[in-house]
Amino acid sequence: MSSVKRCRSSRARGIPALLVGALALALTGGSATAAQQGTLHVLAAAHGKYFGSATDNPELPDAAYSATLGSEFGQITPGNSMKWDATEPAQGRFDFAKGDAITDFAAQHGQTVRGHTLVWHSQLPNWVGALPSAQVEAAMTHHVTEVVTHYRGAVTAWDVVNEPFNEDGTFRTSPFHTAMGTDYIATALRAAHAADPDAKLYLNDYNIEGLGAKSDAMYELVSELLDEGVPLDGVGMQAHLAVQYGFPYQMQANMQRFADLGLDVAITELDVRMQLPADAAKTATQATYYRQVVEACLAVEHCVGITVWDYTDKYSWVPSTFPGQGAANLYDENLLPKPAYSAVRTALGGGDDAGEGGDPGALRAQYRNSDSSAGDNQIKPSLQLVNTGGTTISLSDVTVRYWFTSDDGASTYSTWCDWSSIGCSDVTHRVAAPSTPKAGADHYLEVGFGGGNLAPGAATGEIQLRLNKTDWSAFDESDDYSHGSGTSYADASKITVYLGGEPVWGIEP
Ligand code: G3I
Repeated sequence: MSSVKRCRSSRARGIPALLVGALALALTGGSATAAQQGTLHVLAAAHGKYFGSATDNPELPDAAYSATLGSEFGQITPGNSMKWDATEPAQGRFDFAKGDAITDFAAQHGQTVRGHTLVWHSQLPNWVGALPSAQVEAAMTHHVTEVVTHYRGAVTAWDVVNEPFNEDGTFRTSPFHTAMGTDYIATALRAAHAADPDAKLYLNDYNIEGLGAKSDAMYELVSELLDEGVPLDGVGMQAHLAVQYGFPYQMQANMQRFADLGLDVAITELDVRMQLPADAAKTATQATYYRQVVEACLAVEHCVGITVWDYTDKYSWVPSTFPGQGAANLYDENLLPKPAYSAVRTALGGGDDAGEGGDPGALRAQYRNSDSSAGDNQIKPSLQLVNTGGTTISLSDVTVRYWFTSDDGASTYSTWCDWSSIGCSDVTHRVAAPSTPKAGADHYLEVGFGGGNLAPGAATGEIQLRLNKTDWSAFDESDDYSHGSGTSYADASKITVYLGGEPVWGIEP
């Protein structure tokens, strides 16, 4: 049985899952393994895009981590092992061992690789900064040529120059800028193109996802480079977002203006951090941001794909760089998918694959009528939640709505948990009103949880709820949207369930 959801799915569109997989292969030219059917990558590939993750060598021996990296994602980016300090730690001494481990992993799992990164002011070995200015161009050209040549055929796209701008759109100081001025960018691109004419060449930066001074500067730069005939294929938008800073301004329009120049755009390092501790509201906002990024990319034909900057909080760069912040990734530290994962799946059109890919959206609400009178002064819904999926769900991310009409009388309420097999102390409840009253539903009882987990196949057991108006006037429950007459537990599609604020079960009134 498939859950009742509002989300679009491949099945809802009449495209069988296997066909989605086949279509994915046709569009990306990649080879999805059997395990990749219905994964984020396969769903993205059905739109002609990839879905990837950064990774790093110390993480690969973690078998559970590698299993998901190899199955869920169709593209990987080395977080550190192709940077200058890794590939040419001493002048003329190249070391490709760690980078090769990444391209080997990709080859074994049918994934493409974005090379990251050739020319960057950071993670630059000291010897580069110590060179006399007159030697920097030759050293840079040699570095780009050697690295790109080594990975010819194994790396499909390169972040040739990383982070060339300051926040105000001026050029960032670096040994390269000091030695060559802004010409270093065209020089690096030409060297990369000469070494691998088939590789897609990118400029990559952060805080250029929305319209603003920094993205204007990037727009001006790439326009000039294209006018001069410099080989350039795309702009990488890192997208290190934060719940507390809001969503980038006009992201889709910003991506579109680069695409209109004839360039590809890629989301190259997506994560959405927050001030810790995480809570349901921040987690819901995070899921919304991830969803909005996916939607923006889907809306822009030349957005070629999305890479998350590692997929799990277990291996995030955020906590060490921004103390007190974290929880930025699609999966938590135990490699369990979070609401953001579900939001991404849904945005990619795969929200109906509950359980098959570890989708936490496999929650269902069940209801029984334990109220002998539909016309008295109390409403007494009894609910339970069932996890029909294959992954554990954190109950603190879950809310449930029972929709009803207030009828006449007071507009204030008292709510109660009379009994619950998981204990009423962990069950929260309140009455709220939707912004627009609906037929049979001008209010809802919202139930939440202070903590606890729902393992695959587990149910909360019965939760007996009750509400009354503060003037104890009577209700007419017979026309209430969520009211039912069954006295045994059964799936209730008119009771809605949310994970991190995203609807995962039921049909809203
Ligand atoms: O390799 C050394 C190890 O020998 C040493 O013991 C250890 C002690 O600190 O440090 C190790 O190096 C660390 C390196 O990652 C490899 O793990 C550095 O300290 C650490 O600063 C470095 O962080 C990386 C960061 O770039 C550096 O700027 C992150 O892992 C990496 O995810 C991050 O990635 C960047 C992108 O390249 C560009 N965009 C922003 C993004 C996030 O900062």
